[in-house]
Amino acid sequence: MTTKVILDVDTGTDDAVALMVAALSPDLELIGATTVNGNTSVENCTENTLRVFDYIGKSHIPVFEGMSVPMVRAHAQQAISAKGIHGDLLDLPPARSKKQARHAVDWLIETYLASNGDITLVPVGPLTNIAMAIRMEPRILERIPEIVIMGGAHEHGNSTPSAEFNIWVDPEAAQIVVNCGRPIRMIPLDATHRALVSREDCTRLREIGTPAALATAICTERRIGGYDTSQPMHRLGAAPVHDALAVCAIIDPSVVTTKFIAVDVETSGPLTDGRTVCDFRHRSLRSANVHFAVDADEPKFVRMLTEILSRTA
Ligand code: RIB
Ligand code: CA
Repeated sequence: MTTKVILDVDTGTDDAVALMVAALSPDLELIGATTVNGNTSVENCTENTLRVFDYIGKSHIPVFEGMSVPMVRAHAQQAISAKGIHGDLLDLPPARSKKQARHAVDWLIETYLASNGDITLVPVGPLTNIAMAIRMEPRILERIPEIVIMGGAHEHGNSTPSAEFNIWVDPEAAQIVVNCGRPIRMIPLDATHRALVSREDCTRLREIGTPAALATAICTERRIGGYDTSQPMHRLGAAPVHDALAVCAIIDPSVVTTKFIAVDVETSGPLTDGRTVCDFRHRSLRSANVHFAVDADEPKFVRMLTEILSRTA
């Protein structure tokens, strides 16, 4: 039984790996991808997403371009350090395919209204498209069985000491999604930073030699260089591939450990703006709303990547 998914991406190097895992996993059916402003401009995110699907022979998967700015705030500039992790354009051949004409938000609305309530929504960038769709057409909510978000952080941020990038870019959008009332699984930095991919793993991917394995090695080696330089992890020569862990958690939920807690988003604090405030000790009066990943199984994650990216169809 395959799970239908839609990925909302700000492609970027880890989004690229998430797209390849979703497109190649025999357990998932990737219905389409929507792009949003985040790691780079939405136009570049669209080009990068098209490059990925062309490169792995999945050009039939439709790509819809979405919001170019956050819902409320001025456009958030990606931190210079992150440019080294993503760049503006992926190191893959220019796309031959074209994006779809429909705006991503319109396509999300019409797709969910026409669905049987069986399409898991997987945002791995800022939540602007998702929040816009919910605000424009609240009826889609009853058709979304689960939202699996890469985003958030409890222990530490990456864009600021408090906040993780996807939430920080558009906190108002994140607050809408986190409080939408549908089942939410959040794969935050607390988990992704415990599931690193190393240079040795990239060497093994290059030896596998499939287009997806090679593209993943290219993207991840770039990430490792950027992280070692600007945001060193607990071991050098390895980097998180945040978005791919969110997709792997749909394929095999045991790749992460989650706790069901109350989570909300700070939208007004010079030091805490964009923070996912996590209530692990029942200090708030509100009920739990998010399955929040607090740990990850790194060997299982790397095994899943290697197995799935060895596929060509
Ligand atoms: O903080 C990590 C997240 O921000 C990932 O989704 C990465 O692609 C960037 O969007
Ligand atoms: Ca992303």
